Amino acid sequence: MHCVRKVTEDLYWIGGNDRRLALFENIHPIPRGVSYNSYLLLDEKNVLFDTVDWSICRQFLENIHGVIGDKTIDYMVINHVEPDHAASIEEVLLRYPDVKIICTEKAQLFMRQFGFNIDGRVIVVKEGDTMSFGKHEVVFVTAPMVHWPEAMVTYDKKDGILFSADAFGTFGALDGKLFNDEVDFKRDWIDDARRYYTNIVGKYGPHVQTLLKKASTLDIKIICPLHGPVWRNDLAYFIDKYDKWSRYEPEEKGVLIVYGTMYGNTEAAANYLATKLVEKGITNVAMYDVSKTHVSYLISETFKYSHLVLASVTYNLNIYPPMHDYLIDMKALNLQKRTVSLIENGSWAPQSGKLMRELLGKMKEMTILDNEISLSSSLKEENASSIDDLADSIIASI
Ligand code: FEO
Repeated sequence: MHCVRKVTEDLYWIGGNDRRLALFENIHPIPRGVSYNSYLLLDEKNVLFDTVDWSICRQFLENIHGVIGDKTIDYMVINHVEPDHAASIEEVLLRYPDVKIICTEKAQLFMRQFGFNIDGRVIVVKEGDTMSFGKHEVVFVTAPMVHWPEAMVTYDKKDGILFSADAFGTFGALDGKLFNDEVDFKRDWIDDARRYYTNIVGKYGPHVQTLLKKASTLDIKIICPLHGPVWRNDLAYFIDKYDKWSRYEPEEKGVLIVYGTMYGNTEAAANYLATKLVEKGITNVAMYDVSKTHVSYLISETFKYSHLVLASVTYNLNIYPPMHDYLIDMKALNLQKRTVSLIENGSWAPQSGKLMRELLGKMKEMTILDNEISLSSSLKEENASSIDDLADSIIASI
């Protein structure tokens, strides 16, 4: 049975949802599932915009048939070849033998690398090329590294629709509601959207900036991403988030405290600092146990807040391993422009502070406050004034 939504008079959402997958890319937890969006345009030529993950291929094929019956698909625009969107390409080729694939040169190469038999089926396009399908003329805009090098986005001039590939996507399955104005995005979706962006595309901020600049020259009325809701109003809200995230600017002035604790002593110091911050008037404080929080959530929160406190026990004369992993992920995702404070703990030879400082020093535009705290096994009365001073330093820098 097909299950589709109309986006406009002649454009259908024909994607689907996966609520059974636990880890997106086998890394990132998706407790709310994920949608794989695909779109079908009915014009003089029928045009498919991207396909879906293999897990929902059957639903996807039923959706196509539900919309066009026994008619054929003439073109398949492939904006992105990552398998969460491209896995069903060959299935479409088998069922619609006349369909031609429209994609970039690199996308063609990637499809061959994945073993797709696309000989004689590909029309390669490049930046600014246009194609008319009848009433609808589209222009192809390359979007390298958003999120793979072959990516492009496609703009439908007639209806002002941007098929944005991974850009403007989010984790989270669609519960019948397709459009951003059918959900409370700011309440229910923004955290997953940020976690999706920061972990999947976060490394490529400059490339996202390039795409945003190109997009700003287009009169965009609807954004059709490959994951999550379709945007048909209030586009500026989400574009502004993308602009901030891709410039690595924090969304909020506030303090994120991430601690790595073995027996609760480092946690006690983090709690004390948080309490002091709040007493002194900074209530926008969030705390996470690095051992209990998946790093994808930590990365997302790190992109959100202006100030970061890292409190780590020393472990095997090194940074506590989950804290070390978090820092490595931060560096890999190009995080920058944060103000950071450090608390180290250790029962002998505490040195996690020095080592965290070294790692942070390899990231761009990170300001590390001087009042580093070194604890010997536990927080004591004698440490209170230094934590108080640290709270004052953080507040002064906010
Ligand atoms: Fe949703 Fe880069 O794939």
